[in-house]
Amino acid sequence: MRWARATTLCGLASAIASPLGLALASQNHDYDIVVVGGTSAGYAAAIQAARLNRTVALLEPSKHVGGIAIEGAGASDIDSQSSFQNSLTIGPLAFEFYRRVADRYNNTKAFDQGWSNHTKDKSLWRFECHVGQSVIEDWLAEEKNIDVYLETALRGAGNGHGVFKSGEEIIKIETEARDFFSARIFIDATYEGDLLAAAGVPYTIGRESIAAYNESLAGIQFNTTFSQLTVDVDPYRVSGNPSSGLIPTVQDQALGKAGDRDRNIQAFSWRLCLTNNVSNLVPFTRPADYDPSHYEIYQRYVKAGGKVFTPSIVLPNNKTDIIGSATEGLGFDMPGRTSEYPEGSHSQRAKLLEDLARWQKGLLYFLAHDNSMPKETRDEWSKWGYAQDEFVDNEHFPRAMYVRDGRRMIRDDIVVTSHNTEYSYPEIPVSDPILTNLWPIDLHSTRRIVKDGHIYDEGFLWKQGPDWKPWLLSYQAIVPKSTMCKNLFVPTSPSSTHLGFSLLRVEHTFMTMGQVSAIAADIAIKTNASSVEKVNYDLLREQLDATGFLLNATADGLPSRVSNS
Ligand SMILES: *[C@@H]1O[C@H](CO)[C@@H](O)[C@H](O)[C@H]1NC(C)=O
Ligand SMILES: *[C@@H]1O[C@H](CO)[C@@H](O)[C@H](O)[C@H]1NC(C)=O
Ligand SMILES: *[C@@H]1O[C@H](CO)[C@@H](O)[C@H](O)[C@H]1NC(C)=O
Ligand SMILES: *[C@@H]1O[C@H](CO)[C@@H](O)[C@H](O)[C@H]1NC(C)=O
Ligand SMILES: *[C@@H]1O[C@H](CO)[C@@H](O)[C@H](O)[C@H]1NC(C)=O
Ligand SMILES: *[C@@H]1O[C@H](CO)[C@@H](O)[C@H](O)[C@H]1NC(C)=O
Ligand SMILES: *[C@@H]1O[C@H](CO)[C@@H](O)[C@H](O)[C@H]1NC(C)=O
Ligand SMILES: *[C@@H]1O[C@H](CO)[C@@H](O)[C@H](O)[C@H]1NC(C)=O
Ligand SMILES: *[C@@H]1O[C@H](CO)[C@@H](O)[C@H](O)[C@H]1NC(C)=O
Repeated sequence: MRWARATTLCGLASAIASPLGLALASQNHDYDIVVVGGTSAGYAAAIQAARLNRTVALLEPSKHVGGIAIEGAGASDIDSQSSFQNSLTIGPLAFEFYRRVADRYNNTKAFDQGWSNHTKDKSLWRFECHVGQSVIEDWLAEEKNIDVYLETALRGAGNGHGVFKSGEEIIKIETEARDFFSARIFIDATYEGDLLAAAGVPYTIGRESIAAYNESLAGIQFNTTFSQLTVDVDPYRVSGNPSSGLIPTVQDQALGKAGDRDRNIQAFSWRLCLTNNVSNLVPFTRPADYDPSHYEIYQRYVKAGGKVFTPSIVLPNNKTDIIGSATEGLGFDMPGRTSEYPEGSHSQRAKLLEDLARWQKGLLYFLAHDNSMPKETRDEWSKWGYAQDEFVDNEHFPRAMYVRDGRRMIRDDIVVTSHNTEYSYPEIPVSDPILTNLWPIDLHSTRRIVKDGHIYDEGFLWKQGPDWKPWLLSYQAIVPKSTMCKNLFVPTSPSSTHLGFSLLRVEHTFMTMGQVSAIAADIAIKTNASSVEKVNYDLLREQLDATGFLLNATADGLPSRVSNS
């Protein structure tokens, strides 16, 4: 691998050696495969493509490759739940990542034994973010044929620019710095689905109605209980007075009709890698523009008898990963505050990120210091702080928030829905599987609104709904139809409903969809396939089997039925 830079040298992190481009004029780069987005899916695709001797460019807007896993989400979703064991379904490159992590912790013996014994132990799959980042950097460095372009974003973030097509084929793409990348195959590995949109492939954002696909849990939710406020909280600036306006974080939206569609997306949050180790701790500081009234909802929640959650150690070396939601009550999720993000420009997204980072940092300070918080809450939060050895280039705060939702491709013939995993739903036949999926419906709140005069967090779905089962994902879910685009993969924006996407959106599954994209891209090139949709599945299957994919939803060790109750 080489760390490349398309046009200029400025802004390069000091650790990055020997960039190739010194010229300031815009450049044309040509590769077999161009991957847009250095997420889990993106770097997995790049590594797999390089191992197939394809030349590959990996384009990442930020200064780091790795996605949310290295921006706070060190507590992976593998073997993390009491009711099922999903490590058995993990894809080959995702497995390799976690084994490399174990190696970094000198823990390969326990890891290998655990793996061969089918031991369920979530700690085998958890890591500190700086360790994950370093593993990924070293891994990329081992692979020849990959050029990594940091601080390189698709022009227009999906809004009409950035893609040059000839017929239904992408010929080249343009970056914000006005460089061009041409390739035989393109892979959109952005969480937002930017390339998908720029290529003119049909997509959707938000929630379907129940009527659209007959999913019983679709649309607006009247009875959200998980991660719900446990006490009644008045939403108005002047208590009981609607005309005084709403307190911060509450949206002025009507509840609507149960099961109706809307454009709201699930909440983003920060995944915070904090520590309670005093020798490694940077205390929460008071932000310059700190205003405790931004956190009025926490004050009222506590006053009404609600309990604010506190961190616990879930990662090595006395660190935590704050998920965003609290099982019960008020967490750090930011429902309703990111709805403009998926289709926002790069600068609109950056501004939102900055605003929400300020809000989050202020909240940490507030919980540790504000007198409205009970003494135990303040004491507990005061034991925690930012970790000195994490996010060292960003004052120990994550450089990205958790983009849980973006654009999703919608095909008219194949769409993943909640039915795919529903136990009692008639088996959906899949003749071209690319992975076995074992993850439940998992949607964070979509809105914080007013219901019956109180604050209501609407839309969280977890451990609810019908019993479910492992299922097979069709290859066709990650490729557009030939009539839309012939040379694009969308591993992070598969054709799916709001509910269907939630089954697939965990990082290790993104890695596996990215890996499949690269294997299929190689076959498409080798066989001169007329489009990626038409890739010969038998050839792909042969390769997936040889690479160690599990493509059997009734394989030994997998549950046949998982209950949510
Ligand atoms: C890639 O190229 C190397 C060196 O030419 C060769 O040894 C290897 O077999 C090739 N791998 C594949 C998958 O074609
Ligand atoms: C792992 O072992 C190596 C070699 O013995 C040592 O240098 C390193 O500090 C160890 N790492 C950890 C995280 O224990
Ligand atoms: C795995 O099995 C071996 C042999 O039965 C045993 O010695 C070892 O303790 C087991 N390891 C774990 C992590 O369970
Ligand atoms: C919709 O789903 C329900 C079960 O949730 C089922 O009884 C009904 O037959 C389905 N309707 C259609 C049109 O598929
Ligand atoms: C919500 O729950 C209440 C009480 O259990 C029930 O009466 C109502 O029908 C539910 N509403 C919807 C839309 O599910
Ligand atoms: C790690 O956390 C435990 C439990 O909170 C605490 O007792 C211990 O002192 C911490 N270790 C360090 C080095 O801070
Ligand atoms: C606490 O932090 C110090 C300094 O970084 C480190 O040497 C030590 O290993 C840490 N201990 C734990 C339990 O995290
Ligand atoms: C694919 O196309 C190239 C260039 O047109 C040609 O050289 C090659 O033989 C073709 N390969 C196959 C398998 O059709
Ligand atoms: C899936 O695994 C089960 C259990 O080992 C086996 O009976 C079945 O034949 C396998 N199915 C396929 C399609 O390989």
